[in-house]
Amino acid sequence: MPVALLPPVADEISRALAALDVESVSATYRAQNEFIHLDRLFPEAVVAPMVDEVERVRTSINRNYIPRHKKGGSVGYYTLREQAPAVLTLYRSPAFLDFVRRVTGAPVQLCPESDPHACALYYYTEPGDHIGFHYDTSYYKGTRYTVLLGLVERSSSRLVCQLYRDDPAREARELTLATEPGTLVLFHGDKLWHKITPLGENEERVSLTLEYVTDPGMTPVKRFVSNMKDAVAYFGFRSVFGRRGTRRFSDTSPGIGAARNAGTRRVG
Ligand SMILES: [Fe+2]
Repeated sequence: MPVALLPPVADEISRALAALDVESVSATYRAQNEFIHLDRLFPEAVVAPMVDEVERVRTSINRNYIPRHKKGGSVGYYTLREQAPAVLTLYRSPAFLDFVRRVTGAPVQLCPESDPHACALYYYTEPGDHIGFHYDTSYYKGTRYTVLLGLVERSSSRLVCQLYRDDPAREARELTLATEPGTLVLFHGDKLWHKITPLGENEERVSLTLEYVTDPGMTPVKRFVSNMKDAVAYFGFRSVFGRRGTRRFSDTSPGIGAARNAGTRRVG
């Protein structure tokens, strides 16, 4: 069964966002080639329930290793939508969706229910866990935006971002960020070249990722490629291609039923 959302968490999300000067945030976002980070945006009242959920779904972690590119664990949307109400409350928060739209200036919407990467937790728990430089390329017909939210930060790992790499008219600028609990990063997936540096001994780092898109349509070929990437690099074949991804929602919602076959996306 999908989880029920949490009104107290939704209220705290709205309160934190209402305190922002969104026009100023949006101006900085644009000046940084569609990238923004907001240190400790969300308070303990938002972060703590999510950290509880980080522990709750730990038994569902799928670990993977792609030599010279990626090592780490992930829990995808199909698990989170059944066991992580605080995460789902943020993802579906109308106030947060409005915030993302105002900052990006794009008419973003939620990803289809069939996208295992709509929300995901990334676990860096073993020495050397990392992901190399990449873009979050959109497989959708529309533009894809990524939100990262720090939840657990007991590590020397850092999010390294290279701004303007896709703009030959500007000199690239590199930022190295610690994603402390409550710190939010928002960027255009095709514009930000980024990586997570390797975890050290006795360290741990967990972050949440949320995806929003302007057009959730996807060609069958891209859907297949996206699913293969998700299976190999993130959630495992059983999670991505098993019945699990489609059977739990028995068309109780018209939107969910319609979205089912719209496809998935992800690059790693
Ligand atoms: Fe990424």
